[in-house]
Amino acid sequence: MLIRSPIVCVMGHVDHGKTTILDSVRGSRVAQKEAGGITQMIGASYIRRQDIDALADSLKGRMKFDLKIPGLLFIDTPGHEAFTNLRDRGGSIADIAILVIDINQGFQPQTLESLRILKQYKTPFVVAANKIDVLSGWNKQSTTSFLESMSKQPSYMAERLDEKIYQLMGKLSEHGFDCERFDRISDFKSQIAIIPVSAKTKEGMSELLMLIAGLSQKFLEGKLEMDEKGAGKGSIIEIKDEKGLGTTIDVILYDGVLRKGDEVIFLSENGPKKTKIRGLLEPNISGGKEKYAQVDIIPAAAGVKILAPDLDGAIPGSPIEACIDFEKGKQKLEKLMKNIIFEKTDKGIIVRSDSLGSLEALIKLLTEKKIPIKEAAIGNISKKDVLDAKVVSKSDKFLGAVLGFNVYAMDDAVSASKNEGIPLIISDIIYKVVEHYSEWVASQKEEEKKSAWKNLTWPAEIKALPGFCFRVSKPAIFGIKVLEGIIKPGYKLMDASGNVIGEIREIQHEKDKIEKATRGMEVAVSCDGILYGKDVNENDLLYTHIPKHEFDEWKKHANVLSSEDKELLDKISKILFKTPW
Ligand code: GTP
Ligand code: MG
Repeated sequence: MLIRSPIVCVMGHVDHGKTTILDSVRGSRVAQKEAGGITQMIGASYIRRQDIDALADSLKGRMKFDLKIPGLLFIDTPGHEAFTNLRDRGGSIADIAILVIDINQGFQPQTLESLRILKQYKTPFVVAANKIDVLSGWNKQSTTSFLESMSKQPSYMAERLDEKIYQLMGKLSEHGFDCERFDRISDFKSQIAIIPVSAKTKEGMSELLMLIAGLSQKFLEGKLEMDEKGAGKGSIIEIKDEKGLGTTIDVILYDGVLRKGDEVIFLSENGPKKTKIRGLLEPNISGGKEKYAQVDIIPAAAGVKILAPDLDGAIPGSPIEACIDFEKGKQKLEKLMKNIIFEKTDKGIIVRSDSLGSLEALIKLLTEKKIPIKEAAIGNISKKDVLDAKVVSKSDKFLGAVLGFNVYAMDDAVSASKNEGIPLIISDIIYKVVEHYSEWVASQKEEEKKSAWKNLTWPAEIKALPGFCFRVSKPAIFGIKVLEGIIKPGYKLMDASGNVIGEIREIQHEKDKIEKATRGMEVAVSCDGILYGKDVNENDLLYTHIPKHEFDEWKKHANVLSSEDKELLDKISKILFKTPW
């Protein structure tokens, strides 16, 4: 058994320094002007063990691991969208993650989103508390070691830094994570390490890399063992059209080896598909005008570009495996697809996404918010999607929508959307898609309330207040309290037996004429047709009289009614027709 390199993913909020940390990792050898260094791979950067060991020198024995892993494979695209596409059948192929948090800004929405994803995939991680160089009073040191730099800081710095670290620890513990500054941790298995760093000055980068290497070796050993002759297993991270090559796929290989000529199976938009590898490509680093260099064999962990026929429709986030038994492989992939694309309901929204990982994340979010889904798939939005949503909207208007993440709507879909009044809600941020949909539903409900308000009689229960009759008749004017619902001028009032006794002409509140009175308000009403003392007496309960056909109309607009409104409609229906609403 061979131990492969751990796969490392960098996550965190916008602008907190993910890319700069990666740049800093990539640059760490260059700065030391030694032979070797970082190997550029497709979609990833590889840092060798001897280079990590060399970094340990700057730690002057403060941290020592006897490294057995061959190196670290850093995924080049940071963020949780890339992370969710690093998947196999069970979960994420990222072995360990760096959660980057700007120490001056602390927790932000995407910090939380990243944490949520790491928790969901049970991926171990460390926290890089970045931008320590911006802390007021920080004296930049020319070392890549945090501890060395710290020992040269003015004495007040220790407290200043700790204050920030404690804030982070507090926030992380709110989300169920026990964290501590790395040099104060006694048990790395139960506590998550926070490493103060500056991606810009590189202070702390030694400890960050050492910890990632040491921890993954210590805690992931079983997971990192691989059969050096085993069938290659990977995850598709990108589909690319390359000039002169046609469609290629970029793959992160996490187990076994891939060889030129291997048959591989993967998921396409039309289900599992098989092809034969025609070329394995790496970036050409030896000079010359060729962009890529061909290799015959590549062992995990690595990033590689695969050249093969029939790659069209391959889905990013799909597993890809060298396969001996096509039928078995096909069944496994079909099961995976089914697990992600869960149960469908007839009444639900239509969802489209650009990759398996992001589709899964979007579905999870929608499910959490209890938004039903009719259909979820990979691909751009077509006219058929809009027409399908239209069918749904006939039974539930608020579910007649097409949601898309990182996709576009085809021209005929856009015009169908306009003609049919079906919204296309597209964004390149997962939670924004859901947020925009919720906003659309809220605005639709508001619209509907307005039109229901105009055309229908709201249910209301009011009580004649004792001692507040200002005029007995023509019109009668008296004080009432709205116990439930809403009244408006023009509404007919009935007594508790269902007899219509008159019509509201005007409503006054503290001498002002008002357009409506809602639950809890005490107002004066003037009513035509009422003789106070005969038709109405003190403490009598009165109801709005709702015409029979409006009860059916209310069924269609029920979603704008509160549960109390609905109960009242039921009560009024029983008074008038002896049947529930
Ligand atoms: P997105 O890709 O947009 O999500 O951002 P990111 O997390 O990749 O952040 P990026 O690395 O682009 O950094 C954002 C800004 O912060 C840039 O202007 C960086 O130069 C700066 N920055 C990153 N790390 C540090 C640091 O340690 N110290 C200081 N002073 N600036 C930093
Ligand atoms: Mg970036």
